[in-house]
Amino acid sequence: MSSSMRAACVIGYPAKHSRSPTLHGYWIKRYGIDGDYRIEEIAPENFDTFVTNLAGHGYVGANVTMPHKDAAFRLSEPDEKARAIGAANTLWLDGDVLRATNTDGDGFVGSLDAAAAGWDNRVNNAVVLGAGGASRSIVYALLERGISKVHVVNRTLAKAEATRDAYGAGVEPAQWHDLPALLKDAGLLINATSLGMYGHGELDIDLAPLGGDAIISDIVYVPLKTPLLAAAEARGLTTSNGLQMLLHQAVRGFELWFGLRPEVTLEQYDLMAADIPKG
Ligand code: ATR
Repeated sequence: MSSSMRAACVIGYPAKHSRSPTLHGYWIKRYGIDGDYRIEEIAPENFDTFVTNLAGHGYVGANVTMPHKDAAFRLSEPDEKARAIGAANTLWLDGDVLRATNTDGDGFVGSLDAAAAGWDNRVNNAVVLGAGGASRSIVYALLERGISKVHVVNRTLAKAEATRDAYGAGVEPAQWHDLPALLKDAGLLINATSLGMYGHGELDIDLAPLGGDAIISDIVYVPLKTPLLAAAEARGLTTSNGLQMLLHQAVRGFELWFGLRPEVTLEQYDLMAADIPKG
């Protein structure tokens, strides 16, 4: 190991099957960086000691995944974005200070910028399905980009209302039966639930009310083409999938750890896509 070598890791439990080493490993190689990205499978009872001594373990930063996201938030100095979302997924050392951010919203807008450049000039009205952690990051990113109305549709209305309480009147809580009426005016529809993922429930929505220039995005990437995205493609609508979002959310962490803002490439997408079960 050279003295200039920088390393980052993903900390989870379990973590063995993480796709992040392939994703970051691609950029490390492409840019010829003296760096490494590893998996650290750390049990919850050992997380605090591990994360508060990242440098001692040879790391300049980390991604944090289940079940450590709350603990990571608590043990770090979260930035404004992480505080607004209430969760952190990316940590980095700033001298001795462990800082944190949340890159899920960046990944979402990055994937839309790539799939439908200028989308934020055309879309006034968005519909987000789901009101969990992923939804909050997406809603926050949409409002940050100036989208004036974000309808949050959720089975449990109280969670959609909590998003409105956190982010203000730009958020309109709604229920599944409101969907046909909402889709009529929506320029953007995002699935931020786990529905449509292999082994989870089906997402059964009729896209007929959507206008012909609507954009559809899905956070699910197993399968790559969810039934929602297949239906959108069949209608000729612009789509963006969960793998594109996963790749784009990794950009900021890489930049923070290795000092270079990497580009998401088609070659990298294909490399990652090859590893996703076809069904
Ligand atoms: P994440 O942090 O990945 O967003 P989460 O917080 O568990 O995960 O959120 C999952 C989302 O999918 C929630 O909005 C959930 O709806 P509820 O808040 O009503 O639980 C939604 N979801 C999951 N399974 C669902 C189902 N079978 N029908 C409708 N919504 C579902």
